[in-house]
Amino acid sequence: MNPIKVGLLGIGTVGSGTFNVLKRNQEEIQRRAGRGIEIAMVADLNVARAQEVVGAGVKVVSDAREVIANPEIDIVIELIGGYGIAKALVLEAIAAGKHVVTANKALLAVHGTEIFAAAQAKGVMVAFEAAVAGGIPIIKALREGLTANSIQWVAGIINGTTNFILSEMRDKGLDFGVVLKEAQRLGYAEADPTFDIEGVDAAHKVTLMSAIAFGIPVQFDKAYVEGITKLGAADIKYAEQLGYRIKLLGITKRTAHGVELRVHPSLVPTQRLIANVEGAMNAVMVQGDAVGTTLYYGKGAGSEPTASAVIADLVDITRLHTADPLNRVPHLAFQPGAMSDLRVLPMSEVVTSYYLRLRVADQAGVLAKLTGLLADAGISIDAVLQREADQVSQADENQTDVIILTHDTREGTLNDVLAQMQSLPTVMAPIVRIRKEELN
Ligand code: NDP
Ligand code: HSE
Repeated sequence: MNPIKVGLLGIGTVGSGTFNVLKRNQEEIQRRAGRGIEIAMVADLNVARAQEVVGAGVKVVSDAREVIANPEIDIVIELIGGYGIAKALVLEAIAAGKHVVTANKALLAVHGTEIFAAAQAKGVMVAFEAAVAGGIPIIKALREGLTANSIQWVAGIINGTTNFILSEMRDKGLDFGVVLKEAQRLGYAEADPTFDIEGVDAAHKVTLMSAIAFGIPVQFDKAYVEGITKLGAADIKYAEQLGYRIKLLGITKRTAHGVELRVHPSLVPTQRLIANVEGAMNAVMVQGDAVGTTLYYGKGAGSEPTASAVIADLVDITRLHTADPLNRVPHLAFQPGAMSDLRVLPMSEVVTSYYLRLRVADQAGVLAKLTGLLADAGISIDAVLQREADQVSQADENQTDVIILTHDTREGTLNDVLAQMQSLPTVMAPIVRIRKEELN
């Protein structure tokens, strides 16, 4: 049988990895797919650089639309990125009856509903394993491997840049700004790392996992997004003393009232495996009612790890593209007519536990007042730690840090108590609040 023909749009980091791995492992991949997979045409703005990567045997053009218009091409891989031209090209490829593979989490998290509907109407597949956690096959696991389960929650370290920064802050006791510069020097963080450090990249990824886990539409606009820019080295150290690590988690959870969808720094018990995922690595925990807790770990980015996921999608499409569209695995795991309208909960309705750090006047009765406010609101305390005197600077010798860990409470209830605490004359600085996830 002739190989299936693929057109590649954008041959940068992931595109070149995809080309190289496909070439290197072509014989084994063909034995798995049942048919050869050939990148027959490439579009990139830098034609000379692209031609150097693919060699003289593959046609390279600067206009991606030439690839989409080529009737020989069955599958279009979009590896340009962003919401702009990439969106237009993906929709045009679908309209032209091509299957699409993309690693573009930003595009799918924001415009996924429109894109999946267009693909459904046209009877083509849109595959996106590489969009979440790079080389970890988490989409396949959620959509197929765990299909027997009622998924209860998914929690993941799904941004390598921020995990590297947090690991360095903990290891070396450095502040965020110092480590960010180092991450940029090492090439982990982009020159403009905003999407990574503000939690947006992780929110794109958890939005996609939430849709697949619970059969709801992709709803990035309803995600709560908080990055790591305000984290101080002191809180990382106190968390450690209390038996926790701080990780930027993407969390989505099914509750009786709706779905939680949130990204924020979280205290995770040090004894959990996921708390020990360090550097730029990714890991995702999934809790299903039948299987219990499962954990997936690996490289969440990089040329060949991400290519591994792109090629897995190519193989899937090669195997399935002659199948009746109704007998394929649905894009978002659930049949399009069986999606749920479970609402995404506002943050005030989320129930979790908290780490609070208060800089207070070192006077009798201060702690009693704080714990009294929590008790009045029905919030139970799990642990209290007072900062040792020798850790307080000379200028602040009449002040001390009080750290309180709470049990589960509604975020809206905690917000009211925090407002009351903040207005006390004995609370000397903005209160630090970090959510805590036991993940058990
Ligand atoms: P790169 O910037 O390395 O590559 C993108 C390529 O697309 C560049 O060669 C760029 O050319 C080219 N390009 C830009 N505009 C066009 C256009 N209109 N037509 C054709 N080519 C164009 O990005 P990555 O490979 O890192 O990322 C690709 C996608 O994969 C993104 O969606 C990203 O989020 C996702 N991803 C990336 C991971 C990674 O580790 N890098 C991991 C997981 C997902 P030029 O350089 O000349 O602008
Ligand atoms: N910027 C992302 C990260 C790349 O740091 O994990 C992979 O999506």
